[in-house]
Amino acid sequence: MSATVLRVFVALLVLCTFLSTVSAGRLENVVKQRGYDARLLKKKDLGAPKPKPNPIYRRASTTSSICTTVTTPNPTAPPSCGGNNCVNAFNKQFTASLDNLESFCSSFTAEPSAVFAPTGTASWAANCLGTSTASSLATAVASKVSSACSCFVPEPTSCPGGDTSGFRFLNDDTKPYQVTSLPEVDFDIGEMYSGLVPIDESDPSRALFFVFQPTDGPPVDEVVIWLNGGPGCSSLEGFFQENGRFIWSWGQYQPTFNPYSWVNLTNVLWVEQPVGTGFAIGNVTATSEEDIAREFADFFLNFQKIFGISNFKIYVTGESYAGRYIPYISAEMLDRNDTTHFNVSGALMYDPCIGSCTYIQEEVTAYPFVEQNNNMIGLNASYLAQLKALDESCGYAAYRDQYLTYPASGIQPPTPDFSDECDINTAATNAAFNINPCFNSYEIVTQCPIPSDPLGFPTDLAFAYPALTPLYFDRADVKAAMHAPTYVDWQECAGPVFVDNDDTSVDSIIKVLPQVIEATNRVLVSNAQLDFVVITNGTLLSIQNMTWNGKLGFEAEPSAPVVITLPDLQYMQVFVDNGYPLGFENPQGTMGVQHFERGLMWAETFLSGHMQPQFQPRSSYRHLQWMLGHIDEL
Ligand SMILES: *[C@@H]1O[C@H](CO)[C@@H](O)[C@H](O)[C@H]1NC(C)=O
Ligand SMILES: *[C@@H]1O[C@H](CO)[C@@H](O)[C@H](O)[C@H]1NC(C)=O
Ligand SMILES: *[C@@H]1O[C@H](CO)[C@@H](O)[C@H](O)[C@H]1NC(C)=O
Ligand SMILES: *[C@@H]1O[C@H](CO)[C@@H](O)[C@H](O)[C@H]1NC(C)=O
Ligand SMILES: *[C@@H]1O[C@H](CO)[C@@H](O)[C@H](O)[C@H]1NC(C)=O
Ligand SMILES: *[C@@H]1O[C@H](CO)[C@@H](O)[C@H](O)[C@H]1NC(C)=O
Ligand SMILES: *[C@@H]1O[C@H](CO)[C@@H](O)[C@H](O)[C@H]1NC(C)=O
Repeated sequence: MSATVLRVFVALLVLCTFLSTVSAGRLENVVKQRGYDARLLKKKDLGAPKPKPNPIYRRASTTSSICTTVTTPNPTAPPSCGGNNCVNAFNKQFTASLDNLESFCSSFTAEPSAVFAPTGTASWAANCLGTSTASSLATAVASKVSSACSCFVPEPTSCPGGDTSGFRFLNDDTKPYQVTSLPEVDFDIGEMYSGLVPIDESDPSRALFFVFQPTDGPPVDEVVIWLNGGPGCSSLEGFFQENGRFIWSWGQYQPTFNPYSWVNLTNVLWVEQPVGTGFAIGNVTATSEEDIAREFADFFLNFQKIFGISNFKIYVTGESYAGRYIPYISAEMLDRNDTTHFNVSGALMYDPCIGSCTYIQEEVTAYPFVEQNNNMIGLNASYLAQLKALDESCGYAAYRDQYLTYPASGIQPPTPDFSDECDINTAATNAAFNINPCFNSYEIVTQCPIPSDPLGFPTDLAFAYPALTPLYFDRADVKAAMHAPTYVDWQECAGPVFVDNDDTSVDSIIKVLPQVIEATNRVLVSNAQLDFVVITNGTLLSIQNMTWNGKLGFEAEPSAPVVITLPDLQYMQVFVDNGYPLGFENPQGTMGVQHFERGLMWAETFLSGHMQPQFQPRSSYRHLQWMLGHIDEL
């Protein structure tokens, strides 16, 4: 890719999208235009923490149906912390899914008495149900138990009274990073650390900011690194709105427990990087992905020293522009030939910039996207016809005919320069704003009002409701609780992170992504159906120009379904409270398309915008299970 195109591409990403830099100034202007005095808002005394009702998410304990008995057949949870994990998981399965809940309830005849033995599910079921129970029912229950035990992760093991004795990583070195509570999060936050770790131990002026949440489940010797994109966007977005233990997402009035947190399954490390992003400190010196990857690996080594980590499996994950960071960082780690500290075992990337991000992933595939989704976008017929004419005159239609094929038809030419007139993506987005001022390229079904967002970036536009300013991570009390540098003005997307805003590295598909696939054979690339910033067919078109494990592209078009059976753990209580039977909204069903060839798993995710763990957490939970090697298909 030529330097000019790269500059255009970086500039576009920085200027036009999330990507679009939101300066604190711009946010203030937006706030001011809406009649609020941003200065006052910023300085607003937050006062004493408001008393809050108890968590977040209640179980079906208040329902009066006969099925309430289901919550009690809990065979003697050991009194130790956390109880009997498998049994709790079983109970959850029962209260959550349940086509046969009613038959189970109506035949429930005996008090549970037996201690659960994971290997003896049939005898447990007999004990639970009583000897009078038909053996067919006992068998059905036994199979539920087995499936609960295999599908669910164990309960957290936090003890009453904030006992930290189960905290695996807490010691004198890590204590300064421990986070014991967070403003507005009025429940046990579990084991959590955050703060700055220098890139080079001898130079405290350059450091990256991390949040680390060890798994709630059984301890595992692995760490999943999560990176948001931009360039310049903070990974605290992922931590707080996508896959952390608790989330404060769009439209929520307070933080809630996240039942689909990745922390359920593994140790997760969110890092604000590169320098120029979030709370990370230092002067911007990077000119390439190689520079960024080197600094990340150095930081990570220092992080491992502090936390006493070695011989851990490393997985690098994230979204968007991190489609460049992830493979470059993974490749840098692999190149260090040090499996004690850099045992890269897999990678996962959402809606990632892996190829020619602007041309292929945003433009060549834009028109058919608009045409097929126009029932949600609403462009008028004459404008649509105008875009269709451009799609042809700009050469996009012919490009797709030639190269969006399975198997791949050949290596694609280098990205050409393209004129503003051929920027169909921006033209369509601007026209969509006429029809729907709250249109959002990141999730095209977004409608007015703009959802509230404590991080100030709920759509393409920067906006925060006055009650939610300053932005959560810019609050003095939050910075103090998280050991963040108080003098940094935190913004979700800042930057620049490259000198002259120029990322000089070649696209990931050219070398580093193939290298990571070949080294691990556990790489998942996924794109969301409702994302107009990085378009699903654009990502596939980039894959069709990548050679890995000896061949170019996928040989067959992705077609196998992704069927999600994980229960709805977020909203089921609302259904119950409205008189629907428990489990009414389960299972979720066919939520995507999967395809695996030569170490690379492809996943399209239906009804999701760009930030997949935010919009389709159940699908992304499956993706993580696959990357960690727990399952072999999605
Ligand atoms: C994740 O763990 C929590 C307990 O910490 C549990 O409530 C939830 O059901 C688990 N989620 C999944 C998908 O297993
Ligand atoms: C960072 O850049 C500023 C302005 O160019 C300079 O004054 C300062 O010395 C630099 N800091 C370091 C640690 O290099
Ligand atoms: C690296 O991880 C792989 C699994 O991905 C494992 O088989 C191997 O033993 C690990 N190596 C080291 C040195 O920990
Ligand atoms: C890692 O190993 C490769 C191949 O053996 C070698 O070319 C390379 O120089 C090594 N890199 C380091 C940092 O030792
Ligand atoms: C994506 O490409 C496939 C051909 O591979 C085509 O059938 C489909 O309509 C395209 N979808 C969109 C939204 O452009
Ligand atoms: C396709 O791949 C070739 C070979 O790696 C590369 O030279 C070219 O720039 C790529 N084109 C696109 C559009 O990605
Ligand atoms: C159709 O949409 C275009 C682009 O937004 C607009 O300029 C034009 O006025 C619209 N035409 C009609 C008839 O609504």
